[in-house]
Amino acid sequence: MLVVFGTLSALSACSKAPGVEATVMLPEGDPDAGAEHFVELGCNSCHSVVGADIAEPEDKGPVRVLLGSRSGRTMTYGALVTAVVNPSHKLARRYRKDRVSADGESMMRNYNDTMTVTQLTDIVAFLQGHYEKAVRPGYKYPVYEYKSDEPEGEVETGEDSG
Ligand code: HEC
Repeated sequence: MLVVFGTLSALSACSKAPGVEATVMLPEGDPDAGAEHFVELGCNSCHSVVGADIAEPEDKGPVRVLLGSRSGRTMTYGALVTAVVNPSHKLARRYRKDRVSADGESMMRNYNDTMTVTQLTDIVAFLQGHYEKAVRPGYKYPVYEYKSDEPEGEVETGEDSG
């Protein structure tokens, strides 16, 4: 599986030709475990998930943002990972910016110093099942282009540039 993160290219140690994006290969996640982490980590204090039976939060967060799609909304695997580890990169589209952010920063909690990679991949595996076509890259090493303005990823065969 090969996931292309535009956002991570700046962090990439190897230099790339212009236009070639960095690639990150994450291990497969467990969606059931992801649903549990989602509650343990308190994601449910600000989020409910379309079509998922998620426990009510003990403490309600400052905002309520619905995750998942009801009407064909898509999110690529890379976009989902980005939304969790770098939420300010691109704010959720359906909400007024002043409701979900302050000074351009997402109101989402930052988990990067506490969430494990396993929790991350499990949660993304869980969430992607609730977005239409949020397909996880398979073992044929397709390249998923992460476009910040277009939620739908383009699949094409590409070289393994990781
Ligand atoms: C304090 C409230 C809060 C908590 C806790 C929180 N989030 Fe968020 N989240 C937000 C807000 C606000 C947005 C919308 C702004 C943005 O896109 O960053 C958001 C957006 C998202 C999005 C993108 C949604 C879209 O439609 O683009 C995902 C995915 C997401 N959160 C996952 C998570 C996960 C997983 C956790 C737990 C590990 C979590 N969030 C915890 C507030 C929160």
